Amino acid sequence: MWGPEGLDEVEAELLGPPEELKGRDVLELGAGAAQCSRWLAAQGARPVALDISHRQLQHALRIGGPFPLVCADAGALPFADGSFDLVCSAYGALPFVADPRLVLREVRRVLRPGGRLVFSVTHPIRWAFPDEPGPEGLSVSASYFDRTPYVEQDEEGRAVYVEHHRTLGDRVRDVVASGFRLVDLVEPEWPAWNTSEWGGWSPLRGNLIPGTAVFVCVRD
Ligand SMILES: C[S@@+](CC[C@H](N)C(=O)[O-])C[C@H]1O[C@@H](n2cnc3c(N)ncnc32)[C@H](O)[C@@H]1O
Repeated sequence: MWGPEGLDEVEAELLGPPEELKGRDVLELGAGAAQCSRWLAAQGARPVALDISHRQLQHALRIGGPFPLVCADAGALPFADGSFDLVCSAYGALPFVADPRLVLREVRRVLRPGGRLVFSVTHPIRWAFPDEPGPEGLSVSASYFDRTPYVEQDEEGRAVYVEHHRTLGDRVRDVVASGFRLVDLVEPEWPAWNTSEWGGWSPLRGNLIPGTAVFVCVRD
């Protein structure tokens, strides 16, 4: 699943035709509970699920799957050059790092020539709107161009959640400057069947403004 709209890989085929996934080495970045790796393994691919959070990987372990789990930072990948055919990430790692080019360069290094990176992030336009599912989430309340990160702190003032904003142009430049060719930028439309509300995502907003941006990149 690429995002809350419900666009899934069966429908989107952004990693390529499903029959070609068989035997492919795939790295899932910011895997969380490794839902994508579980689906990839079922297609006959050979996924590796990576996340910086040990707690998230415990969930992945509990649910299970025939693939390795790796606890590491996406900015320092513990793999040899050219280890993977594909790298995928559904809202993993990239929205949460201050230096996305560091991650993208690492991804390029571990991909084989001709390999593909597909990653989804919150659509940058959402930054300008309150993160509310109702009508209050439809009025611009902040500058789209303000790159100050969103930070939540605990009682001691330690950052416990940080999300970094990049404009659409920033993301395109990050991808290109890191040695990728951008072959598609998918903005999933909210489908009629999806009636669920989750956080700031809702049918009301989804029908009017994009919520997810999926970047499809090739390492030439
Ligand atoms: C919004 S969750 C997405 C999880 C999963 N991909 C999904 O679709 O449900 C983001 C994940 O990225 C991980 N993450 C954040 N920063 C990271 C980093 N620097 N390196 C690796 N993983 C990271 C988080 O621990 C979290 O599991």
